[in-house]
Amino acid sequence: MKLKIALLPGDGIGPEVVDQAVKVCNVIADKYNHKIEWKEALTGAVAIDAVGDPYPEETHEICMAADAVLFGAIGHPKYDNDPSAKVRPEQGLLKMRQKLGLFANVRPTFTFPSLIDKSPLRRERIEGTDLVFLRELTGGIYFGERGTSEDGERAFDTNVYTKSEITRIAKLAFETAMQRKKQLCCVDKANILDTSRLWRKTVKAMEVDYPEVEVTYEFVDAVAMRLVQWPNSYDVLVTENLFGDILTDEASVISGSMGLMPSASIGEHTSLFEPIHGSYPQAAGKDIANPLATVLSAAMMFEDAFGLKVEAEAIRAVVNKSLEEGVVTEDLAGDNKAYKTSEIGDWLVANL
Ligand code: IPM
Ligand code: MN
Repeated sequence: MKLKIALLPGDGIGPEVVDQAVKVCNVIADKYNHKIEWKEALTGAVAIDAVGDPYPEETHEICMAADAVLFGAIGHPKYDNDPSAKVRPEQGLLKMRQKLGLFANVRPTFTFPSLIDKSPLRRERIEGTDLVFLRELTGGIYFGERGTSEDGERAFDTNVYTKSEITRIAKLAFETAMQRKKQLCCVDKANILDTSRLWRKTVKAMEVDYPEVEVTYEFVDAVAMRLVQWPNSYDVLVTENLFGDILTDEASVISGSMGLMPSASIGEHTSLFEPIHGSYPQAAGKDIANPLATVLSAAMMFEDAFGLKVEAEAIRAVVNKSLEEGVVTEDLAGDNKAYKTSEIGDWLVANL
């Protein structure tokens, strides 16, 4: 198969972790007779520096023409403490999500048997955790009207959802549940928010189309609690943009390192695959970041974008093997030897 992949390394550790995923993808392609055509493009702070736009039109065109996008990370500290900055790297991410119509962010959380004791949560709480969040990604408070009064004394952000925005992600959530344990939790704040009441009403009305799926409705604060108490009691969760942003970071610590969790963003055009961690600027260029979340994102890409399940499983298997053999970066090494980012990539390649 011919696979056209747009490669967006982005900022911070993005290029280093993406490099390892590229090595792994190239070996998989060789092994299973595929031909990958990579096209690299600029996003984030590097794109602002080069052309003044964190998601340039040229990058968008490359993404639109590709079968999948593999993305590293976005963000640079020089913008974080500068409220006067007119363009910010993060705007590139939002623009990309919007222009590619990436309305659903799929973020799985699972445990690795060999890492269970690395988790800050006790073994008996997390064993068997295998859940997936579907976070709405192109609506809500991220994209609603916002502003600050002239005197700077008042600011507002608006949370807006339409029935059709809720329906399209809920449909995906029901379909995901049908392929899993058939349990769906709709996360909202329907005791307070009108948008949440619309979510609840819309999802409720869809239940008749999926009679086998058991749907529960829980308030976001309660979910935040249950997620660290009994994460293994969840299967599929669906929620709005901001709640999903917060809860998926919380969920990512269950596995023991944020450097392990992959994600997919899917929607109207090309799907995008990225690690859930950020650009980790303190580690940039040091060859110490954990590349596995990006490598596992590439596995999701093979399975979800190309329908190549065997290839995806081969990547997951070699990642598991590296963890079992203690071939890990410093975030997981403890008192043992910590491997470099590039050494992990080389080890994965050698063991494929
Ligand atoms: C994420 C990130 C982004 C978000 C930021 C960088 C804009 O935190 O992908 O979760 O808030 O969506
Ligand atoms: Mn986030």
